[in-house]
Amino acid sequence: MSPQFPAVRPRRLRSTPAFRRLVAETRLHPADLVLPMFIREGITESVPIDSMPGVSHHSLDGFKQALNEAAEAGIGGVMLFGVPLDEKKDAVGSGATDPEGILNVATRIAQAEVGDALVVQTDLCLDEFTDHGHCGVLDVSGYVDNDATLERYRDMGVVQAESGSQLVAPSGMMDGQIAAIRDALDTNGFGNTPILAYAAKFASAFYGPFREAVQSSLTGDRRTYQMDNGNRREGGREVGLDIEEGADIVMVKPAMSYLDVLADTAATSPVPVWAYQISGEYSMMQAAAANGWIDLDAAAYESVLGIKRAGADAILTYFAVDLAQRLNGTSDPKRAIR
Ligand code: PBG
Repeated sequence: MSPQFPAVRPRRLRSTPAFRRLVAETRLHPADLVLPMFIREGITESVPIDSMPGVSHHSLDGFKQALNEAAEAGIGGVMLFGVPLDEKKDAVGSGATDPEGILNVATRIAQAEVGDALVVQTDLCLDEFTDHGHCGVLDVSGYVDNDATLERYRDMGVVQAESGSQLVAPSGMMDGQIAAIRDALDTNGFGNTPILAYAAKFASAFYGPFREAVQSSLTGDRRTYQMDNGNRREGGREVGLDIEEGADIVMVKPAMSYLDVLADTAATSPVPVWAYQISGEYSMMQAAAANGWIDLDAAAYESVLGIKRAGADAILTYFAVDLAQRLNGTSDPKRAIR
């Protein structure tokens, strides 16, 4: 005798918003979100970034206001990127280790302004500061010289910590970068400054809008140091090496095209696992929404929730403040995300 009705009905628990809320497996909280921010030298007012609707280059003044807005929204932290004047770029990225370089100045401001409320984090990489746009220094043949770059990263880590960075985040994918920066921090009195490793960072087409955002001088690509797109197992290897070298947090980047690597990492990592929803992921949603093809609020929420569901403990996203305001019920109706 075959049963007359389905024996199992998952729909029972979907019948009302209250039920759905009660049985939700994954929840976003403002504290899960980290906002990447761009601080540009030589401007006096914020300038919108064409390739990233809703994201601006901050002047040092406008930056303070944006920091306070982020703190009020209750997000977990901010990740700072510096955009120096073109004429300050050189072959070794001197601006990165100059205490008066734009990123280090911005870090001091952020630490003073919101350092108690937010974890002030800094991208530790040379690409914004080099005139060739690569993440490291080049040898005579134009190849990125791994070990010479490590020397620069060591100095950059120390200057960032001195400037008040609470979490330094090496993103250049040089071999041994976590061990080198750990040693430099430890031997310079910054043994308590943690490292967020961009551990599995892939050479992605989705970085496009960011390269405009940092006015990158890069020609060519980063495929001799960032990971090849198809390599899941190697993602685990890179994460494992960074943990052995002393990473306090590991990150997978980009997020949406690499959710398998993220899930693998979340299943095995003894340290927190973060993911970066990068510029291209953000801008393509903005572009689709501008055409009326998707609902931006719903898509932004679903995409970040999905990254958390795949295993991220925290997510870097350009939607951070808007999403947090929405979660708090304090969003400004004039903003894109409500
Ligand atoms: C390197 C760095 C990049 C991003 C974060 N850190 C650029 C790159 O690797 O080309 C990309 C972030 C984004 O696309 O949103 N400094």
